[in-house]
Amino acid sequence: MGRVMKRLRKIIFPAAGHGTRFLPATKASPKEMLTIVNKPLIQYAVEEALEAGLNQVIMVTGRGKRAIEDHFDVSFELETVLRNNGKQDKFEEVSQISRMVEIVYLRQKMALGLGHAVRCAEHWVEDEPFAVSLADELIIGDVPAMAQLREVFERTHCSVLGLMEVPREHVSRYGIVAYEREADGLFRLVDMVEKPSPESAPSCYAIVGRYIFTPRLMKILRHAVPGTNNEIQLTDSIARLAKEETVYGVVLQGQRFDAGTPLGFLLANATLGLANPQFGPEFRKHLLGLLDR
Ligand code: UTP
Repeated sequence: MGRVMKRLRKIIFPAAGHGTRFLPATKASPKEMLTIVNKPLIQYAVEEALEAGLNQVIMVTGRGKRAIEDHFDVSFELETVLRNNGKQDKFEEVSQISRMVEIVYLRQKMALGLGHAVRCAEHWVEDEPFAVSLADELIIGDVPAMAQLREVFERTHCSVLGLMEVPREHVSRYGIVAYEREADGLFRLVDMVEKPSPESAPSCYAIVGRYIFTPRLMKILRHAVPGTNNEIQLTDSIARLAKEETVYGVVLQGQRFDAGTPLGFLLANATLGLANPQFGPEFRKHLLGLLDR
């Protein structure tokens, strides 16, 4: 008889990559602290996780990532100054960040790949299902992306990956899936390949940085060997998992930005900047002026 699946409450944020696509900004500051309007990427991702009921958080960080820990810590001096200066709303905004969630931090000593970063959290995950979120992929929509995945997980108790359709000429930037359609927007994944050429890609559905896994994935990762770029690729282990268990892909509703690249970052800032109730109209006027030139 199969064992009962434990409750889903854990989430891993791998944040130990070098961020080479965003140099020189990422030379001394973490990519996850890049801001979209006035909030760092990692805070968007943590808020999304909390909205999906995932409140046991581990961040896998590396050297030069201290700012992430400071961001979610109490900032005693700043909070005192804000309170003493009567800036109550700013005080509330800043102090609630340190109260939003308890976070465990772990160091990935060498950036040996995303699969390796996830494996670093093996002892913390134990035998529970867990989510993984890549904060540099910002997904904005009516229903938080992680909640869309969770809905499928709660129904099926199977691993679920977030997918989005991409233009065929862009498939070589992503992990691309081969699938059998099970329902509208829900696919059973047969295989997946990391960064295929447009000619060899099995579909145009890309894995975007949101995942929920059964505990089996950690067992597979334990034996994973380096693949493309000599890194331990998460995709290779998910492909193995899909040979052993059912793995679903859910086509996410919402807009996705690869904010770990300068262009994706600009698009995210333009989109959320225009939607800002306070200064969106003025921003729009400025952009229209630029376009008129
Ligand atoms: P990316 O492919 O975006 O790599 O990793 P990167 O190193 O951060 O950025 P580029 O490609 O050099 O510009 C996807 C996610 O996996 C994490 C990254 O922090 C990012 O969230 N990661 C990657 C690790 O935590 N450790 C690694 O060894 C590699």
